[in-house]
Amino acid sequence: MKISIDREKCTACGRCVEVCAVNFAEGADGKPAVSDPPGPCVLCGHCMAVCPVDAITHTGLAGLRFDLCAKKPSYGELMALLTSRRSRREFTKKPLTEAEIEALLSAAAQAPNGLNKRNVRYTVVTDPKILKELSLAIGKQTGWLADKLDSPVWRGLFKLLWGRQIKEFEPLLPLLKPMASETLKGNDMVLYKAPCAILIHTSKHDPCGAEDAVYCGANILLAAEAMGLGACVIGFLTEPINSDRGLRKLVGLPRDHKIRTSIIVGRPRFAYTHGVLRPAPKPERIRVQT
Ligand SMILES: Cc1cc2nc3c(=O)[nH]c(=O)nc-3n(C[C@H](O)[C@H](O)[C@H](O)COP(=O)(O)O)c2cc1C
Repeated sequence: MKISIDREKCTACGRCVEVCAVNFAEGADGKPAVSDPPGPCVLCGHCMAVCPVDAITHTGLAGLRFDLCAKKPSYGELMALLTSRRSRREFTKKPLTEAEIEALLSAAAQAPNGLNKRNVRYTVVTDPKILKELSLAIGKQTGWLADKLDSPVWRGLFKLLWGRQIKEFEPLLPLLKPMASETLKGNDMVLYKAPCAILIHTSKHDPCGAEDAVYCGANILLAAEAMGLGACVIGFLTEPINSDRGLRKLVGLPRDHKIRTSIIVGRPRFAYTHGVLRPAPKPERIRVQT
């Protein structure tokens, strides 16, 4: 990895030193210089992105494009997207194109990432047979669980096995039975007959893996909305696949990986006419006593 600064182009603005004091310092001629020896670099690209005169080259970043920033949406424009995004569960049968899937994953790749490890992986399921198999298997598992949870004996056993987790399940209980029975009847309430499911996963041992994946997923939800597609997070997909050897194999999940969030995407059958502006939460402030 080699970083260099074109001294002719450099205007000594010092921004590279401000954004990366690890690899840049003020040089003898008053212009920034690359630290010698260079420090650890996470390849974030900030040095090249901030340089107004393209004076910096970095061999570790050779594969990336550094385009001039496009005009950013205003707060109002961004809020229009955020308030009009809905979890969509009503899709046409038309599959997504490869270009659409690539565009969604490109949006995901722009998310912030702990230590910039670029560790998040995506399993994109578009095979209708596999999608159906997933829905039916999860419908069956859910029906089994819902039946068992009706019995105090089984509830007691699950409490012993899962501890607090069973409490977290409780709000879901009224949903489980109808979800399972409808799905098994062919009214898919797991994947809603979406033509595409994106499983977002990282290593089980990655300390930032859960957050990394969720930020990528959030970008996918917004990109889908901006592209006129519809998307929905499907929590019912994530843990059932993680904890079932057969389903892990069905989707080819690597052995040491864990799905952190799952999203279905498709073409909505109709548009929503209204957004939902939820009130801003009141922040909790800590007062320092003087
Ligand atoms: C962690 C998480 C899990 C979710 N799981 C499901 C799910 O399994 N099935 C489903 O239909 N919707 C699921 N949703 C979508 C929520 O129901 C939806 O976001 C919420 O009702 C608010 O609606 P909105 O997204 O349209 O604003 C999930 C959302 C999140 C964030």
